[in-house]
Amino acid sequence: RIPVLLDGDPGHDDAMAWMLAKASPALDIRGITSVCGNQTIEKTTYNALRVMTLLGIHAPMAKGRPGPLVAEPMAAPSVHGESGLDGPALPEPDREPLSCSAAELMAKVLAESKEPVYLVPTGPLTNVASLLLSHPELKEKIGGISLMGGGISHGNWTPAAEFNILVDPEAADIVFRSGVPITMAGLDVTEKALIFPEDFERVRSVGNPVALIVAEWLAFFYRFHREKGYAGAPVHDAVAVAALVAPELFTVEEMHVDIEVAGDYTRGATVGDRYHITAAAPNARVITGVDRDGFADLLVAAVKTYGEG
Ligand code: BDR
Ligand code: CA
Repeated sequence: RIPVLLDGDPGHDDAMAWMLAKASPALDIRGITSVCGNQTIEKTTYNALRVMTLLGIHAPMAKGRPGPLVAEPMAAPSVHGESGLDGPALPEPDREPLSCSAAELMAKVLAESKEPVYLVPTGPLTNVASLLLSHPELKEKIGGISLMGGGISHGNWTPAAEFNILVDPEAADIVFRSGVPITMAGLDVTEKALIFPEDFERVRSVGNPVALIVAEWLAFFYRFHREKGYAGAPVHDAVAVAALVAPELFTVEEMHVDIEVAGDYTRGATVGDRYHITAAAPNARVITGVDRDGFADLLVAAVKTYGEG
């Protein structure tokens, strides 16, 4: 099994990414960390604990930094609500976070692991950058980073920038320059990994308590995105996990990606050298295509692992 550390800002799609990770026999969740992104660190930490309780994830959990490395926090209540995870009622947390920081928990897991550990960040890259800054010697213990963030062709929070990268571009810059193998599930693929009403009705009909909540999350996400003009719900963060457990569903292009940290209009952009115009060696495997039906089937199969209805 692949050891993984899940770092996110739940967030409906973060929660569904974790649902998929917990369901997958290919993954061994060694730790969960919260990051300030969709909401304040207090809210994303509380949501992370509630989601772990719902899913029965018993891995150690630690709270991330209060905000980005340099920038001011920037939340997304228009997408995920004031709680950061509006919608169906969730169980109260069955524990407290550990007293160490997210970066310290990641460092401990990496140091103690015999095998390389994969990081799956589905929020801003603040904690991952903190880890790389504070423990550069542990870089070689990281098997790879499968992240949701960016978009080679466009943004979603500004015309140029995707939310996770825009919130903490300085952190993203550290991660993309780190030399650790990166798989980037950005908008290029996540906006093709669309979920439609027939998919969430399949999820609902599975009937177990997790399935009923996931169906509500998908319906919530679908309503928001339809109003924005999307054809379906892009379950962005779940793609970062799916890329690890079902790589055959995706097409990947290797290229060099730089993070724009300045720019009057382009701060937070992921500038991908898709046509190898510069001499810069590829530093990322950018996912650009998906077998949409296969991805939907993977989500439905995952909810079935949480029991009979
Ligand atoms: C990303 O932004 C967040 O709102 C989602 O959880 C996802 O990680 C998509 O741009
Ligand atoms: Ca997220």
